[in-house]
Amino acid sequence: MSDSATDNGGSTGAEAFAADTGDGTRAVRAGLPEPVKHEPTLPGPVFAAHFHLPGDPTGPYTYGRDENPTWAHLEQAIGELEAPGREDVQTLVFASGMAAISSVLFSQLQAGDTVVLPSDGYQVLPLVRAQLEAYGVQVRTAPTGGDAQLDVLDGAKLLWIETPSNPGLDVCDVRRLVEAAHARGALVAVDNTLATPLGQRPLELGADFSVASGTKQLTGHGDILLGYVAGRDAEAMAAVRRWRKIVGAIAGPMEAWLAHRSISTLQLRVDRQNATALKVAEVLRARPEVNGLRYPGLPDDPSHKIASQQMRRYGCVVSFTLPTRARADRFLDALRLVDDATSFGGVRSTAERRGRWGGDAVPEGFVRLSVGAEDPDDLVADLLRALEESAG
Ligand SMILES: Cc1ncc(COP(=O)(O)O)c(C=O)c1O
Repeated sequence: MSDSATDNGGSTGAEAFAADTGDGTRAVRAGLPEPVKHEPTLPGPVFAAHFHLPGDPTGPYTYGRDENPTWAHLEQAIGELEAPGREDVQTLVFASGMAAISSVLFSQLQAGDTVVLPSDGYQVLPLVRAQLEAYGVQVRTAPTGGDAQLDVLDGAKLLWIETPSNPGLDVCDVRRLVEAAHARGALVAVDNTLATPLGQRPLELGADFSVASGTKQLTGHGDILLGYVAGRDAEAMAAVRRWRKIVGAIAGPMEAWLAHRSISTLQLRVDRQNATALKVAEVLRARPEVNGLRYPGLPDDPSHKIASQQMRRYGCVVSFTLPTRARADRFLDALRLVDDATSFGGVRSTAERRGRWGGDAVPEGFVRLSVGAEDPDDLVADLLRALEESAG
């Protein structure tokens, strides 16, 4: 059996930087191997289903579903961003965010266990819930804002939180919930997709797992599906690794390499996109037809107080509601610099009427806007023009 669960080369969060190294420096150098004369800085993708393996099957590289050097570099990079200086953290990459989420839930929970999920999280979670329940896991839910999870923690084995939540942008107090969950013997996993590791480090806030879709701002170009789990409990991470092996939801080497290359510009992208998101939020909320605008970076947003205590950046997603479904559709149609598309975090702005999917408890005119790397003035002008044009 080629399950070199504890011997996977570079897949730890060990890092080579001083603790005060800046995020930009960390991002451009994360996960790079020691320089080797005549070799590239970031080795190219290794396309291999199997590796030469005479004799006893020892790691680090045996079979391509279990380990791959391109993953190892990427896992090292993500670990350095999620948990700088923490050598006890392991990171595993997956084929998608959902593969990563499922790997934690389905490897940690058994029939008879109880899990607490967000009632307002990513819209595929209800499908996960149904599957967990079919396997005999009891599922409780709680909304993200207001730390309502505290009331349903007794007897739970795992608390799953998504903060900021997608698409409502509510925030919960990770430190407080971790303390309460750990006091009851429950593990805590945080979906860190929206914040990215430069915006929030759940493991430093005490969580046991930081899980994310790398499809969004982490890679930021709207051309890769990827996910990861970073965790600090060796036994729990061995179970996550085993889950990846038996389900086989592995990242392709090309995707892993592109993701690693993309991470080198992560700080540039998040700083640009998030600063523009704040500006856009300020402009849009001053408009009479815009209701319920949410952005955790706005000082008077309901999420801001907790967000400012646990986040270092507030994300590139702004949400708001236009008066009617028809108005929202006309607005989206009138935009020229913002693609009407799902997903978020890319360098090209996207927006969608979230209610079109039917899964989120949002008004028909609710719009989730993902702010890209366009010039802020151009983007603001496009949004204001589209608001005007959609009025009629
Ligand atoms: C918060 C959050 N978590 C997880 C996912 C799932 O990620 P993926 O689409 O990479 O499977 C998404 C996707 O939109 C998301 O928004």
